[in-house]
Amino acid sequence: MQIQKEVIDEVVQRTDIIELIGEYIDLKKAGSNYKALCPFHNEKTPSFSVSQKGFFHCFGCGESGNSISFIQKYLNLSFVEAVSELARRCGIKLNAQEFEDSKENEVRNLYKIAQEFYTMLLFQQTGVEAFDYFKQRKLSKETMESFSLGYSPDKWDALFKEFMRRGISPELAVSSGLITNKNNKYYDFFRNRAMFPIKDFLGRTIAFGGRQLVENKLAGKYINSSDSIVYDKKRTLFGIAEAKSFIRQKNEAFIVEGYLDVLSLAQAGIKNVVAPCGTALTSEQLLYLKKHTNVNVLYFLFDGDSAGEQAALRGIPFALEIGFDLRIIKLPIGQDPDTIINLEGGYDEFMYHKEHASSFVDFICEKRRNENKLSTPTEKSNTIQDLIKLIFLIKDKTQHIFYLENIKEIFNIPIENLKETYRTLLKNNLKPKETPKEEVRHTESRENIFDIKKILPEEKTLFQFLLQDSQNFKLLKEEYRLAENHFITDTAKFVFEIINEFWDSSDIVQELINDEATEEELKQMLLKLKIGEITESERWQDFSDIEHENKNEKIVVVVLAKLRIKAIEEELKLLQHKLKEGDVTVLKQLNFLQQEKQNIINTDLKYE
Ligand code: CTP
Ligand code: MN
Repeated sequence: MQIQKEVIDEVVQRTDIIELIGEYIDLKKAGSNYKALCPFHNEKTPSFSVSQKGFFHCFGCGESGNSISFIQKYLNLSFVEAVSELARRCGIKLNAQEFEDSKENEVRNLYKIAQEFYTMLLFQQTGVEAFDYFKQRKLSKETMESFSLGYSPDKWDALFKEFMRRGISPELAVSSGLITNKNNKYYDFFRNRAMFPIKDFLGRTIAFGGRQLVENKLAGKYINSSDSIVYDKKRTLFGIAEAKSFIRQKNEAFIVEGYLDVLSLAQAGIKNVVAPCGTALTSEQLLYLKKHTNVNVLYFLFDGDSAGEQAALRGIPFALEIGFDLRIIKLPIGQDPDTIINLEGGYDEFMYHKEHASSFVDFICEKRRNENKLSTPTEKSNTIQDLIKLIFLIKDKTQHIFYLENIKEIFNIPIENLKETYRTLLKNNLKPKETPKEEVRHTESRENIFDIKKILPEEKTLFQFLLQDSQNFKLLKEEYRLAENHFITDTAKFVFEIINEFWDSSDIVQELINDEATEEELKQMLLKLKIGEITESERWQDFSDIEHENKNEKIVVVVLAKLRIKAIEEELKLLQHKLKEGDVTVLKQLNFLQQEKQNIINTDLKYE
């Protein structure tokens, strides 16, 4: 599948990379660029840099690219998905045909048709039963609409017929999971249910949950779509599309158990809520949440029953390991967020529970005490050890002492004793896993011809100058006849050979980065040249002052002269060596080169 090159260029041009990346991570202005903690590796000081020219680069882990590559990497998208997301953001319509030929998109299209079909029916006479059910659950029409709720009719093949009417093949319909095939007959998977569309973070429906309208013990209260090529339930969160901007804004997210909990809270104005899709909470879901929202504060808000407590207990290590500031809200037995928020004064009661959320330490101790498992010295000691092992999962070591204090308060024992247990457990191989040294492996793994360290400072300056602006490249080509032989190192020659083909393009770096054929290492190098490591090149100061044309030209002259001198010096060395060995035929050439060198110093370098 191909998207037209012009479309890609347009999308890149219209996307403000600072604004885009700023939506996902905190950017701080630093000179003409922006800096941040790198989202692609763990770090304490920011080495991630974003340039207004449309690129990002991390000096720590080496990730770099443009706006397309950023969301590709950050949101785990394919190239085409990334372009279409950016296109959507800046209001560019992509030709529908550009997406039609992939199986994934075909299946996604079926889910779109199904969702629109079910939603349409909800608001017609056919769907009155479901509509009344949602009403009875206190959901307003606006909430039903904003989450695209629906109704799947009490028929064997209502959706199947809709698919056939639209000319969709039965095989495709079956492969989506929305239709089942038994004995050569086709049936709808969801029948006579209140429908909850499950969307990806871009808001595309990729699955459904369906709730019974009439109690029938033979079928499940809820049935949920199985995994498909567009749906992986263990890494999907219900409500993410609707909640993501609120979560980012508040830097706070609630995880609840049920679809209705999400809907009721959102309706009450607590919009930063998501839920797993009919499964227990997984670490993949938490990573997914972190990745799409970069949220720090995470509230577990599970039902006030033992299943809810069990769910919280299982989720604690995942949440700590990912680095969430985790708080656990305990609801009274028999209640869930949906019932609480719909009570008289429910909002205030909800806020009260939120403000009284427990740390994982408090939560675990309280649970064990309630189960009468925290009275003997053995039980206490075991609990303390379990808690300390959980503390080890927290990467931010500064927090460890505060959680030890938390334990100290509960058990009323001296902190020194706790510290000793902590140290002993740490020694006994219960250390947190070492994070592998990515950077080292990265550079040692194989020879990389496109290594910026392999080129000379003058070559670097020249590249920076000509990549900076298409006018500069033209100037060098037309006025100075810049050619491969101006460069000395193999790497520089190689790079020049490649970019030389693009000398009249308006933005070479964009062009090469968007070209899937460009080697990854070359992309990295071009990006470094374009936005990074500028300080190493003192000359840059002069170049950045583009107003003074003469000054620019002077710099070009100087750099080219210096390169020529270096080349001459190399050759001189060789010739002198030959001379020493008695070869006098080189004398003439030697003199000639020495003369040329002196000329260059007298003319081109005279102001240096
Ligand atoms: N669930 C499920 N299958 C079931 C029961 C529950 O997949 N048989 C999932 C659904 O995602 C549901 C969540 O678990 O939203 C929470 O279950 P429960 O607390 O029973 O659901 P409520 O939303 O409270 O259910 P109800 O509609 O009865 O209020
Ligand atoms: Mn519930």
